Amino acid sequence: LKVLSVGSEIYPLVKTGGLADVMGALPGALAPEGVAMRALVPGYPAVMAALAGAETVLSIADLFGGPALVVAGEPDGLPIFALDAPHLFARPGNPYLASNGADWPDNAQRFAALCRAGVLIAQGAIAGFVPDVVHAHDWQAGLLPAYLHYAGGGGPPCVMTVHNLAYQGQFPADLLGALGLPASAYAVDGVEYYGSIGFLKAGLQFADAITTVSPRYAVEIATPEGGMGLDGLIRARAGVMHGILNGLDTIAWNPARDPLLVAPFGPGDLSPRATNKSALQARMGLDARPDALLFGVVSRLAGQKGIDLIIEALPLLTALGAQLAVLGSGEPALEAGLRAAMARWPGSVAAVIGFEERLSHLIQGGADAILVPSRFEPCGLTQLAAQHYGAIPVVSLVGGLVDTVIDANPAALGAGVATGIQFGPVTTNGLADGLRRTAALFADQPRWQQMQTNAMTLDVSWTHPAKHYATLYHALVLE
Ligand code: ADP
Ligand code: GLC
Repeated sequence: LKVLSVGSEIYPLVKTGGLADVMGALPGALAPEGVAMRALVPGYPAVMAALAGAETVLSIADLFGGPALVVAGEPDGLPIFALDAPHLFARPGNPYLASNGADWPDNAQRFAALCRAGVLIAQGAIAGFVPDVVHAHDWQAGLLPAYLHYAGGGGPPCVMTVHNLAYQGQFPADLLGALGLPASAYAVDGVEYYGSIGFLKAGLQFADAITTVSPRYAVEIATPEGGMGLDGLIRARAGVMHGILNGLDTIAWNPARDPLLVAPFGPGDLSPRATNKSALQARMGLDARPDALLFGVVSRLAGQKGIDLIIEALPLLTALGAQLAVLGSGEPALEAGLRAAMARWPGSVAAVIGFEERLSHLIQGGADAILVPSRFEPCGLTQLAAQHYGAIPVVSLVGGLVDTVIDANPAALGAGVATGIQFGPVTTNGLADGLRRTAALFADQPRWQQMQTNAMTLDVSWTHPAKHYATLYHALVLE
């Protein structure tokens, strides 16, 4: 079975968040299931550099204002089609934003172009890879099912995965013609969305199957509270909705052979974690306190992630004698809040503002606990990595955080299966309760180490999720 996976970022070439991890892991995870997946991604500079010398498999004379090529390569074994369209993608930095932090003004055309190229491949333009199924990820690939629909059918079935409903890709209605959509598409049962064109809306409308990255998130987004304006459509499409958990790329994230750690370790011997912890404290300018409860955070700094709640809970966190190490970048106000906290609690609170793969691994392998107080979380990967690295996740009771962490309640502790701490509601007080529970458990070291071992031996790999996707693809092909 051949599957074309279409999305806007891919680890290890271009990454702003978990979407890249999933795009990068799926081809390898699905191969054992007999699925040959290729990822179609924009030819940003980093992608084109990795594909230097790659074969051109398709040329498109005019794609939204310039010529484009599709080149095929396998950097580090990852099968990729890159859409080489310099007028759209040969721009430095973040895939979505100009250097002034604003969206690129032609984002509608840029990602419509990605979808157009996907449609051509879906329709058989590349003889060596005619997909049986197309798998579109998030709003950037949302027009793909719509283009296939308005092309009059006959294409392969299409899966639309919602990684995050908060980013919907809304653009002015007057772009309809420029995007190559017929006038009839501007309708409630088309691409129209509250007076604009909605890319994600279009994908949800026309996909043959919709998946969310956790079962719980599928339930949440069908409600007015969690549906971000799309819950009506999501309820209407309940019959094609599936929740499939993300996995962790256990090759990139393997604590026993992680070159980004100071001291690798496995579930049989957690003692090297102490070396990572002291390296982390030194790296971040935290006091060298081996026995302090060290909380870590690796996150986009966005409202979704509840970082403001952490800042508000710092008087309690520091009063508990704990430390905090944050790695993140994003909203200026949150970055400023973290800098101010660092100045107020030097030696106890530290933040690195930026995106650093190496430090993210050291935090997972050196912190005692990882805070994820998200307001909503479609799946979340940092709590998966945390568990795999023996850092106890302290998470809010939302979305995939509900599905992937086993709370240390009396029953789970009694049964010896707890892997983390879940708290609710998602408020400063809720988080404060979570911090107090964490400190109490940390004080009981035998119990804490039992939880670490449980967490490290939990299966957070792609093995099970890959089987779900494969089953879904096969079912669609048979329909
Ligand atoms: P989201 O996709 O909403 O950002 P996830 O938890 O699914 O959240 O995925 C986040 C991914 O990005 C993880 O792989 C995490 O390690 C990584 N990450 C987030 N922020 C940073 C950062 N500042 N530096 C390095 N890696 C980061
Ligand atoms: C999104 C979500 C996150 C999820 C990731 C990968 O960015 O915010 O919860 O893990 O996509 O699916």
